[in-house]
Amino acid sequence: MVKIGVPATSANLGPGFDCLGLALDIYNTYEVTTAKELSFEGVDQRYCNEDNLFVQAYRKAGGQGNFHLSVHSEIPVSRGLGSSASLYAAGALAALASLQKIDYDRLFQITADLEGHPDNAAPAVYGGLTANMKGTNGWISRQLPIHESLCFTALIPDVEISTEEARGILPAAYPRHVAAANAGKAVLMTEALRCGDIALLREAAKDEIHEPYRRTLIPGFDAVKKTAEEDSGGVLVISGSGSTCLLIADRYLGEAAKSDIFSLTDHWKIMEPKIGRGAELLGK
Ligand code: HSE
Repeated sequence: MVKIGVPATSANLGPGFDCLGLALDIYNTYEVTTAKELSFEGVDQRYCNEDNLFVQAYRKAGGQGNFHLSVHSEIPVSRGLGSSASLYAAGALAALASLQKIDYDRLFQITADLEGHPDNAAPAVYGGLTANMKGTNGWISRQLPIHESLCFTALIPDVEISTEEARGILPAAYPRHVAAANAGKAVLMTEALRCGDIALLREAAKDEIHEPYRRTLIPGFDAVKKTAEEDSGGVLVISGSGSTCLLIADRYLGEAAKSDIFSLTDHWKIMEPKIGRGAELLGK
């Protein structure tokens, strides 16, 4: 039996569309036991088959035969918190472990290939804050420092958003001034996160690539952004393709602001995760 933990991840962090991603200490755990037939526990009936993302990644990483998969899920699904990347990374890690060939770069390559973009895959595999890109010979990722004063709050409405749909509403091309502005903001976002510079963070977070289009998919987004930013002095960005919003500030929300958000429709939940570790074997 192999037991694996893989964290939730928040991609984009404002201007870092498809390149920046952060691991959060919200973990799915996966237990895999060799079996004659594929079987599942803790998995929605719709996904109890070969199309399951864990199974796809297991096969792609060279895993042989069938198994029983038991999943304990803490990561909300279809909320922009990297539940797919967690499944892919776990399936690939289970396969590499069974072959006694654990290699984190290979794990990252497989996970990012399956995802199609690296910004959830990298923090799911390596943990922490990552900057990522496609290189000539595969995906490239580097971990970056985060200032210890920063607090991360995930605001999660009871609304599912499909990443495919949320990518579909984005323009196919952007004017040069938008591309240039966003590149500068993405670089300065990493600097603001390194230094805990809230004033810089607030400027750098003003994304022009995806948030202007996706905010309309999240009911109550404007009200939540206003309440959260006014109360904390920080900045609220869309986590991945939504619907979760990630507040980055030097403090957590006060009780009055939380009550205002809880009183909105769409049943918002609030989590206060620390920075997460990457994918890991938890024991046999
Ligand atoms: N960068 C991806 C997107 C993340 O925003 O579409 C999806 O979780």
